[in-house]
Amino acid sequence: MASGAFTDDQLQAISAIVQQAVLPLREASARKQPATNGLPEPAQTNGVNGYHYTAPEDINSAQDRVKFAYWVPNVSGGLVISKIPQRTNWDYLSNVRYAQTAENVGFEFALTQIRFMSGYGAENQHESVSFSQALLHNTKKLNVIAALLPGPWNPAVAAKQIASIDHYTNGRISVNIVSGWFKAEFTSIGQWWLEHAERYRRSREFIECLKGIWTTDKFSFKGDFYQFHDYPLSPKPLASPGRPHPLIFQGGNSIDARDNGAHVSDYYFMNGNTLEGFQEQIADVKARAKKLGREDEIKFAVNGFCIVKETEAEAIRLLQEIQGKADKEAVAAFGDAVKQAGSSTGNKKGMWADSTFEDLVQYNDGFKTKLIGTKEQIADRILLLKSLGIDIVLLAFLHYEEDIEYFGEQVLTLVRQLEKEGRGKNQEDEIARTGEVYRAKKVV
Ligand SMILES: Cc1cc2nc3c(=O)[nH]c(=O)nc-3n(C[C@H](O)[C@H](O)[C@H](O)COP(=O)(O)O)c2cc1C
Repeated sequence: MASGAFTDDQLQAISAIVQQAVLPLREASARKQPATNGLPEPAQTNGVNGYHYTAPEDINSAQDRVKFAYWVPNVSGGLVISKIPQRTNWDYLSNVRYAQTAENVGFEFALTQIRFMSGYGAENQHESVSFSQALLHNTKKLNVIAALLPGPWNPAVAAKQIASIDHYTNGRISVNIVSGWFKAEFTSIGQWWLEHAERYRRSREFIECLKGIWTTDKFSFKGDFYQFHDYPLSPKPLASPGRPHPLIFQGGNSIDARDNGAHVSDYYFMNGNTLEGFQEQIADVKARAKKLGREDEIKFAVNGFCIVKETEAEAIRLLQEIQGKADKEAVAAFGDAVKQAGSSTGNKKGMWADSTFEDLVQYNDGFKTKLIGTKEQIADRILLLKSLGIDIVLLAFLHYEEDIEYFGEQVLTLVRQLEKEGRGKNQEDEIARTGEVYRAKKVV
């Protein structure tokens, strides 16, 4: 129907043209004016006076490089449960800026989080798949890992949704299948709260279904949680050599999580841990995978909270300030909620099973990974992680406004330079260089 001087079709065409013209302008203006939440301008920022670092084209050309991911702040409150001011925003335009900056400085992955309600602060939470898609449409190279929670998500919907996004974004979407630790979140939305091992059994079936739907012509499955009968998904996601379907990440520290890693995941995501903790977990998951003939199929990714400063003392001081200003009530509530995770199982193994109050201030034990110090110290520790068999280092920062770019310019380039010199391959050598920091209680 005509509306004023224009037909509906004409109005739609005009609106599309205006959107196309306005979006880049809004993004450009967001880049020029980093939102500071009313805080003072950052002291060690890039981006002041218009300077922005761009990594050389070949920054990620080496086949055996360690890769970098960052946590997308699609929930409010930043990546630490602390009242310390954070120059980290959770809104769409800020996140577009972070994603563009990240890929510009050499990050290859970004991980969105799935939360249905606030648990430890995080008052607002944008939905993970739609947010991932929005970031993908505003980037060119970044691979965005969208978190999916079996229960609210069903594998038929997830497989279809992700396959389509894979087409729109030239194969740049991955998924992280999470198993849930927050009972109130499930019961609030009318979902059954299964006991720990059952949650992981459901997640395993969920992943088996995703893979089956994505790779078989007509998929049939008779599980305890899901059933399919000659289901012919079309279009399938884009397949390429070494990537038969979007990558499947799955995390946790419990035996159930490890077993799922060994059986069905492409990547096993670990929380922060001690050196021995990482070694034990990697060896255990590999041994489980080996029994299934999958030892070459499972890769490892680890979470770490990163503070890069000119001196180690400055970095440690900032860590202590973050922990000292912890939101005590929120950390305590989080500590209570996570008792439903791996620590609730018979063997008490699991994420957060032995986390102190200070550890919990970063909700994925990211301080334990000790990426806190000078750029040289952090590069050494990343190369140690690489030598343990870790393929992706997932990072969280205090001030996303400047820390992603600073990390890229200062640390990522240094890691690449040291890799060229042959570093990160010999575990004994890397442990001899910096292993002590994981043993000594040098960084609290
Ligand atoms: C890197 C990483 C990201 C995660 N992201 C989410 C998330 O977005 N939403 C969520 O509910 N749980 C998330 N989890 C939690 C796990 O799915 C799982 O509930 C938790 O690891 C319980 O571990 P456990 O069984 O080993 O104790 C994440 C875990 C890791 C390691």
